[in-house]
Amino acid sequence: MKLGIIGAMPQEIDRIVEELETESIEQIAGRSYHIGRFEGADCMLVFSHWGKVAAAITATTLIERFGVDCIIFTGVAGAVSKTLNVGDIVIADWLIQHDFDVSAAGILMKYEIPFLGISYFSVDSLLVELAKQAAEDFLSNSPSFARRGQGVVHVGTIASGDQFIAHPDKLEELRAAIPDLLCVEMEGAAVAQVCHEYGIPYIVIRTISDRADRSAPMDFLTFIRNVARHYSHGIVKRLIPRLITLAEDGGNSFGHS
Ligand code: ADE
Repeated sequence: MKLGIIGAMPQEIDRIVEELETESIEQIAGRSYHIGRFEGADCMLVFSHWGKVAAAITATTLIERFGVDCIIFTGVAGAVSKTLNVGDIVIADWLIQHDFDVSAAGILMKYEIPFLGISYFSVDSLLVELAKQAAEDFLSNSPSFARRGQGVVHVGTIASGDQFIAHPDKLEELRAAIPDLLCVEMEGAAVAQVCHEYGIPYIVIRTISDRADRSAPMDFLTFIRNVARHYSHGIVKRLIPRLITLAEDGGNSFGHS
């Protein structure tokens, strides 16, 4: 099984690279692809850069150049649902591009992706369950985070767009426009589209770093430094053995190469 692991922040990838048995590093289009073994799997680790286009380039390279069987995307997100707190984890079961809108042309619905006929990308339910288990396992074995009262794992809709959301008006607009939206970030739904079009399974895992309001920029930077990289490492480390077991049981479409 070949896994592509994309981080939204370089710190997240650097933390996992510390434990990667590195075989090589390839530079492609300004990104460093760290190739090696981690937790019993062949892994390609890379920092995506920010935004939907950057994430799509990264995911496409992992598929076309490295032939990955599955992509795991980890990063942070801003809370949209009032049920979320900083330090919670969201596993996407659906992803949508909240800034994609061709509806004024009169041919497509708002959010609908041309030539695909869909607005939402769904994630394989088995993979969602495994990611949820890995995140819960991480939180229950990380007393320093639990002590601060942080950490509930949620499964739900994530929206991506090329904007850092840090304004209450925009937040209200998103809440009204996309029912059941849990959180917002800048890459997940682009990776989902690439994987959907190539027929590659994928998982998007986000830790809530801020409330997508005026306090977001400050919370965001502190959170990355102190917390997010440990979350990504801890969850991915627990997810990979579960994916290997799933592939060995033949319970999914990846891992048989
Ligand atoms: N990633 C983390 N916080 C975010 C926010 N508020 N908006 C967009 N992406 C984010």
